[in-house]
Amino acid sequence: ASSKVVIEEFLHGIELSVFVLTDGKHFKVLPEAKDYKRIGENDTGPNTGGMGSVSPVPFADKSFMKKVEKRIIKPTIEGLIDEKIDYRGFIFIGLMNVKGDPYVIEYNVRMGDPETQVVIPRIESDLVEILASLKDQRLHRKTLKISNQVASTVVMVAGGYPGSYAKGKEINGLDEVGESIVFHAGTKIEKDKVVTNGGRVIAVTSLSKDLKDALELSYRSVEKINWENFYYRKDIGQDILALNNS
Ligand code: GLY
Repeated sequence: ASSKVVIEEFLHGIELSVFVLTDGKHFKVLPEAKDYKRIGENDTGPNTGGMGSVSPVPFADKSFMKKVEKRIIKPTIEGLIDEKIDYRGFIFIGLMNVKGDPYVIEYNVRMGDPETQVVIPRIESDLVEILASLKDQRLHRKTLKISNQVASTVVMVAGGYPGSYAKGKEINGLDEVGESIVFHAGTKIEKDKVVTNGGRVIAVTSLSKDLKDALELSYRSVEKINWENFYYRKDIGQDILALNNS
C-alpha cells in the first residue's frame, strides 16, 4: 500500500520462538522452540504456516535466555503495565540469535503453530490450573515444571500446499501410530472416515531423551500415515543436530 519500505538492519542468525505466559503482573517463560517455515528442504521455496518444529533449542542456553528475559521479556511486561494494557495470556516473541544476542523480529499475542505441538507436551504441570491463575493474577504462586525430554513435530501437508491442493482425501494409518501424538489441523470426519480438509493436515509429535531419537520416532509414525498426494519435509531438526555435532 505504501511506496516506502524502511530497512533498519539485516539480521544474520538463527530464528527461534520464545513463549511467555503473563497475568499482567508476573510472567513465566515457557519452553522455547524453533519452527521450519519454508515448504522445501534446506529452507527453500515459499513460506508456509510451519512444516515442523523442535523444542528445546540448544543455543537458547541459560546465558542467552537471561539476556532474553532482561532485555526483552521484562521491558515488555513493564511496558504493558506502564501503558495500562491489562493483558493476560500468551506472548509469542519471534527472535533472531545474532552471535549470542537476541533481536526481536515479531510479537504475537497467541501461541505458535506448529511450536505449540512441541511446547505444550513438554509442560508437566497442570496447564489448566496455571491458566486459571491468570484471572486473579496469581501466576507467581504456580510452579511451571518443564520436562527435560526433547520434542519434535513433523507436519504432513496436502500435495500442492502452500499453493492449490485437493481436499477430501481419506487418511490411512492413523490407528497404527502408537509412539507419537497426532495433532489434527486440516482434517474432518466424512461418512465415518477421517479425510483431509486443509493444507497443513496433521502434525506428528514425539518426545524422547534426545533430538535424534525424537525425530526418529516422529518420522517412523509419519511413515505409517498416508493419503493420496501428501508431502512432508524430511529435514526437520537436521540443522540443530548439525549444530550439536559441530
Ligand atoms: N510458526 C509461526 C507462527 O505461528 O506464527
